[in-house]
Amino acid sequence: MARDIALNILVMHGPNLNMLGVREPNLYGLLNLDAINSKLQKTAADASVNTSFFQHNVEGELVNRIHQAYQDGVDGILINPAAYTHTSIAIRDALLATSIEFVEVHLSNVYQRESFRHHSMLSDIALGVIAGFGSTSYDLGLQALILHLQQHKKT
Ligand code: DQA
Repeated sequence: MARDIALNILVMHGPNLNMLGVREPNLYGLLNLDAINSKLQKTAADASVNTSFFQHNVEGELVNRIHQAYQDGVDGILINPAAYTHTSIAIRDALLATSIEFVEVHLSNVYQRESFRHHSMLSDIALGVIAGFGSTSYDLGLQALILHLQQHKKT
């Protein structure tokens, strides 16, 4: 039977990702955040999935937005936690507290970079992780998250 309950996905970006397009383009590419979000929004809309978008440079604001997502009944989160990937117990705890399923994405291949980027505070509790494909990491992450939620969401 066809499902008629629309999925709601929150796309989250951590610190310095508002600088995409300007910031180290050799690592992060030339697309800015609006362009990345627009593409994700279109892909999601084509799959009848609702999206909302949030970028912040402050850890606590990201935590607050995850709590808000729980209140709003968000089904899944696509997150590039940026530098907080490697440090944030608070974001990890917010995701655990809300039990919202999420996919972690990175533009760069963090494993080809400095050793402090090799550890993620989130990967072991994520549905999956996609890194190293530039903005395509977000596209792949969104596709994977939608497929997962469509297969598992209770109607
Ligand atoms: C990043 C990788 C992080 O190590 C870094 O701090 C970022 C971006 C990425 O998308 O490749 O800000 O998450």
